[in-house]
Formats: sequence, C-alpha cells, structure tokens
Amino acid sequence: MQRKMAIRINSLSRQVSKEIKGQGSAIKSELGHHYHQVEALEQLLPALKLTATLPPSRGWAASPDFLLTLSSIVRKSKPKLVLELGSGVSTLVSAKSGARRIISLDHSKEFGEATREMLKEHKVTGAQIRINELLTYPGGYKWYSPEALIGVKGIDLLVIDGPPSSTNPDARYPALEHLLPLLTKKAIVILDDADREDEKKLAQAFAHAMPNHKLTFLRHEKGTAVISPR
Ligand SMILES: C[S@@+](CC[C@H](N)C(=O)[O-])C[C@H]1O[C@@H](n2cnc3c(N)ncnc32)[C@H](O)[C@@H]1O
Repeated sequence: MQRKMAIRINSLSRQVSKEIKGQGSAIKSELGHHYHQVEALEQLLPALKLTATLPPSRGWAASPDFLLTLSSIVRKSKPKLVLELGSGVSTLVSAKSGARRIISLDHSKEFGEATREMLKEHKVTGAQIRINELLTYPGGYKWYSPEALIGVKGIDLLVIDGPPSSTNPDARYPALEHLLPLLTKKAIVILDDADREDEKKLAQAFAHAMPNHKLTFLRHEKGTAVISPR
C-alpha cells in the first residue's frame, strides 16, 4: 500500500515538474517577444521625431518590428507613391519616415476617420485616407472598390495590411490581380501577418509575378514578407 502511494506521488511530482518546465519556456518565449518589440520601438521612435504621441501598436495595428522595417524601407527607397491597404499607425510611420505621397485605403468609416484625425494631430499633410466600403466582385470576393483606386498608378511601395481576414476568405489575395499592373518596375511590396497561410501564399504569388524581385520572410511577431528588387 505504502509502496503504491510512493509510486503515485513520484509520478505526480514528475508530471508537475514537467508542467512547470513547459510553462517556464512559454513565459521565456513570450518575454522574448516583448523584449524584441521594445527593442524595435526604441530604434523606431528617435527616427520618427514625432510631435504627438504614437498611437498603440500591436494587436490590430502593426507591431514595432514591422513598423521599423517599413520605416527603413521608406528611408532607403524614397518612394514617390506609397499605396497602403489598411490605415493606422503604419500610415503615420511611412509619412514620418519621409514618404511624401501616401494613399491609404480603408473599408471602415470608424477606423479610417480615426486615422485621419490622428494624422491631423501629427500635422501629416501628404497622406490621403480613402474610405470606401468593400465591394463584392463578380468572383464573389470582397475587396476595395475601383473608386478607391482612381488616379492610382506608379506605386513604388505597396503596404498590405488589409482588408481584415474576417471580411472574407483569402481577403488580401485580390491585391495581386488589382495592383500588380499599377506597380513600378522597382516597386517594393511589404506584407504584415505573413505568418498566416493566406498572406504567405499572397507573398509567394507576388514574388512569382515579379521575376526580377526576391522574397524575404522576416521572423517578426506576426511575420513580415518583403518583395524587393534583386
Ligand atoms: C490590420 S488593420 C490595419 C492596421 C494598420 N496598418 C496599422 O498599422 O495600424 C486592417 C483594418 O482593420 C480595421 N481596424 C483597425 N483597428 C481595428 C480594431 N481595433 N477593430 C476592428 N477593426 C480594426 C481598419 O479598418 C483597418 O483598415
């Protein structure tokens, strides 16, 4: 009886230490994520020279690691026209990194107007937020309406962070068909959320359609894909 109890206690204690060890590594990995975002934010903020507060990043907004890469791309490539799908803190970062002309499409009146207000507060003048409901196309998918793209051509930098995946399956994939013809030869495409299968597929499709470009996946919090000239 005593022996049985001892065996049972031993087995339980092994189970508990295994669980504690597992939780320990999960916490360590989570702390690593947070540390990495703080590290990115510390590099990003001095470069932006903001005169008002930075809106919250992460969650629905892009994470600092994505924003730091976006800022560095804008600084280095000096795009004449940035087209962004999904407005927010990323619009501010592009503008404050030197992008003179940004057109950002947003399907939501609420969030698009919030971005407009935020940009006003930061005295950004070169960014236009175009708010249009998503249109249902003949193929049955929903995407930004052609009205939102009036006058858009010669895109040097395409930032893909919308529409949200909750709006319809493969929500961002139509960007390929609609925007590929509007890109310049040396355009750069950057995608947020590239850890998700849909976004990975879209990044690969862009790279395939742009044979003089290379595709880089960055191990960011949500995964970032960059398609840039070789
Ligand atoms: C991934 S978000 C775009 C984020 C933006 N690029 C940024 O860095 O802040 C895609 C769309 O989700 C919507 N959105 C933003 N914040 C949201 C929230 N808290 N809840 C629901 N939708 C939101 C906006 O309409 C936005 O265009």
